[in-house]
Amino acid sequence: MPEPILTPGDLLARFQALDGFLLQHQALWRPRPFHHLQLPWEVELPELASWLRSRSLEQAEASDNNPFALAAPSPFPDLAHQAQTLSLLGEMPGMHSPPRTHALSVDVPGRKLAQIQAFANHLQFRKRPQHWLDWCSGKGHLGRWLTKADQRLTCLEHDPALIESGSAMSKRLGLDATHVQQDVLADDCNARLQKEHTPVALHACGDLHVRLLQLASRNGCTQLAVAPCCYNRIATLRYQPLSAAAQASALQLSPDDLGLPLSETVTAGARVRRQRNQSMAWRLAFDLLQRQLRGIDEYLPTPSLPSDWFSKPFASFCHDLAELRDVPTPGEQDWPALEAQGWQRLADVRNLELLRNLFRRPLELWLLLDRALYLQEQGYNVKLGTFCDYQLSPRNLLLLAERA
Ligand SMILES: C[S@@+](CC[C@H](N)C(=O)[O-])C[C@H]1O[C@@H](n2cnc3c(N)ncnc32)[C@H](O)[C@@H]1O
Repeated sequence: MPEPILTPGDLLARFQALDGFLLQHQALWRPRPFHHLQLPWEVELPELASWLRSRSLEQAEASDNNPFALAAPSPFPDLAHQAQTLSLLGEMPGMHSPPRTHALSVDVPGRKLAQIQAFANHLQFRKRPQHWLDWCSGKGHLGRWLTKADQRLTCLEHDPALIESGSAMSKRLGLDATHVQQDVLADDCNARLQKEHTPVALHACGDLHVRLLQLASRNGCTQLAVAPCCYNRIATLRYQPLSAAAQASALQLSPDDLGLPLSETVTAGARVRRQRNQSMAWRLAFDLLQRQLRGIDEYLPTPSLPSDWFSKPFASFCHDLAELRDVPTPGEQDWPALEAQGWQRLADVRNLELLRNLFRRPLELWLLLDRALYLQEQGYNVKLGTFCDYQLSPRNLLLLAERA
């Protein structure tokens, strides 16, 4: 039986079920294994902890994108079942779009083009759009794909280089399109949104898509579609809930918590994964060293580093990072043994994360439902469903809103 899309009557009930689940199990998903030598929950669940710690890095990677299937000790299977049930969301009904000219796909990277096509094929508005508004449009590939001969297009973007090249593309295709340089977070953006616009946002980050929901509802737009991304890109230290239900919830979210739904690796290739593993293993090894050198048994964040840092010998990496973070200079160390400990910690971290990862989708859906409930409060009829395969983009949730 196909999974249901979430329709207006289901939104609040699902939100509350997710809210209860996330609140009840905060101790399992909040602490990041990367930051702890031992996680607080390991004392309560020693059998599960030692089972996860006995597995290899390869085993962790094989389970990463489907932690639900893992035959781990209790309470893992039960939590996996609940997380999966609460995250069930069907595909938004699609429509058969007429083929588009090949010229629209020139210069669009393959994966992005497939995401745009999928997004476009799942937009069903009762009223035919007259004027599309591509929000944080980049070069405006999505807007151009959607805009037919009798429709208009406005693209809002703040990067001048993207505007220039997007503008040239629209002109070449003879579209009635305007590419406007606009910081969508600035006050003057309010005037850019008019009620005849149908705003669309594909993968606009945290504050950027929230701003769209606020302005579109305030300025009387009757329909819009958003596929959110990067929930953790917010300017505040705590997540500011939008809907009454989320405002009433006891769940307080930090930007770190908001990063949980974004931690999948489905789209990374083997080389990128290898580089990321090395970076993490070396940082975890450095973490052991810095605890010893500072005499403080606490995680010390390290900044993102240029890739040439990871072609240095491991000992130089540690020396340079110690200097960068004002940690006392490491003296003579058993560098091979320390590096090996880093790799062992990486295997532990990645396996322990499998428990935390059960909560990725529930938290993402909680955030999406907060947006949906907010729009419902603003008088919209809201539908939620997926618009593409998880493998094409893990950010595959679509929110469609319409009001009379
Ligand atoms: C993740 S990209 C998505 C682009 C496009 N929608 C797509 O799917 O290819 C986010 C876009 O938002 C733009 N952006 C970031 N901050 C912005 C702001 N404050 N105002 C306007 N655009 C912004 C970036 O330059 C970038 O083009």
